[in-house]
Amino acid sequence: MHAVELSQVTKRFGHNIIAVDNIDLVVAAGSFVTLLGPSGCGKTTTLRMIAGLETPSAGEIRIKDQRINDVPIHKRNLGIVFQNYALFPHKTIAANVGFGLKYRNVAPDEIGRRVARALDMVRLPGVEERYPTQLSGGQQQRIALARALVIEPDVLLLDEPLSALDANLREEMRVEIKNIQRRVGIATVFVTHDQGEALAMSDHVVVMNKGRIEQAGAPREVYEHPHSAFVASFLGNANFITGQVRSAADGHAQVALGAHVLNATTERRLQAGESVTVVVRAEKIDLLPPGQGGLPGTVADVDYLGALARYQITLEDGTRLLSLASLKDKPLAVGQLVELRIDPQHCRIL
Ligand SMILES: Nc1ncnc2c1ncn2[C@@H]1O[C@H](COP(=O)(O)OP(=O)(O)OP(=O)(O)O)[C@@H](O)[C@H]1O
Ligand SMILES: [Mg+2]
Repeated sequence: MHAVELSQVTKRFGHNIIAVDNIDLVVAAGSFVTLLGPSGCGKTTTLRMIAGLETPSAGEIRIKDQRINDVPIHKRNLGIVFQNYALFPHKTIAANVGFGLKYRNVAPDEIGRRVARALDMVRLPGVEERYPTQLSGGQQQRIALARALVIEPDVLLLDEPLSALDANLREEMRVEIKNIQRRVGIATVFVTHDQGEALAMSDHVVVMNKGRIEQAGAPREVYEHPHSAFVASFLGNANFITGQVRSAADGHAQVALGAHVLNATTERRLQAGESVTVVVRAEKIDLLPPGQGGLPGTVADVDYLGALARYQITLEDGTRLLSLASLKDKPLAVGQLVELRIDPQHCRIL
C-alpha cells in the first residue's frame, strides 16, 4: 500500500495555465519524497492537490489506496507545514499545537499529553505557556512541525518550510526534520527549489519542470545519471561538451573534440559521426600538469573558496568548463596550461 499515489494528475487554472501536466507520482509508506524544481514548475500546486486545497482538473489522487479527489481537506488526515503557515500569535504554544486535536474533539487532558509529546519530539519541551513571539524563527518552525505531527497524520506535507530561516539554521533544521521523519516513520512530501536540500534529505527526488516530471529517483541516481540537460543543470555544477561520436560499443563511446578524444559512457545506441552532448560534473574533472595525454585546456579564471577552488577552463575549441577541486595547496593561476582527466564513468552522453 502506498502512502500517496497520483495517477495522470493535471491542474489547469483558467484556459491557458497548465500548472501540473499529467503527472504520476508514488510516495511509498514511510518514505521522504522531495518535489524539486524552479519557481512556477508546479510544486506547490501538486502539494495543494494532495492536501485538498486544490481540486485536480483530471486524474486521480489516492491516500492509502483510497481515492480522495472529493474528500474535503478536514476529512483528510494530513499534517501540513507551509513556509508562511504562521502560528496564531495570540494563542499559547499549547493552544497552537493542540489546535487540530481540539478541532477533532479530543478530551482536554489527552490533548495536554499529546501536545507535551509533540513538543518533546521537536526538542522544545516545556514551552506550552509561551507565545510564538517569545520563540526564535527556527523554534517557531519546530512548533509548526509539532502542530502538524500531533494529529498523527497519514502523510506530512512540507512546502519550503525552511526558506524563511538563515543558512545555518536551515542546515540544522534539515537534519532535525529528517531525524523526526525517520523516527516517526511518516511518509513525507517535501517541496523545495534548493537542490542541496533535496539531495541531503530525500529517499526519492522528483525533478519537475513546467508542470511535468523530468526525472525521479534516488538522490545519487538523479545527480549522477541525469536524463536531460535540464536535470543535469538544475542539480548543479554541470558541464556540457559537444563532440562527434568516433566509435561506440557496449555502453562506451569515444567522442572526438577536435584532435582529442573523450571516453564516455552511454545508455544509447550511437552511430559514428553523430553529434552528441556529454555531461560532466565540475567536481569530476581533475586538472593535471600538461604532457600526460589528457584534454588540454587553459585556466581562464579562479575563485578561491577556502577548501575548494572553482576554475573556469577554456578548451582548445573555446569551450568553457567549470572545475571544482579540493585545495590542499595553493590554487592554479590564471593562464596556466593544464590537462583535464575525467573518469569515463562520469562522462555521460545525454
Ligand atoms: N490560483 C492560481 N491561479 C492561476 N495560476 C496559478 C494559481 N496557482 C498557481 N498558478 C500558476 O501555476 C504555475 C505553478 O505554480 P506553483 O505555485 O505550483 O509553482 P511552484 O513550483 O510552487 O513555484 P515556487 O517555487 O515559486 O513556489 C505557475 O505558473 C503559477 O503562476
Ligand atoms: Mg511554491
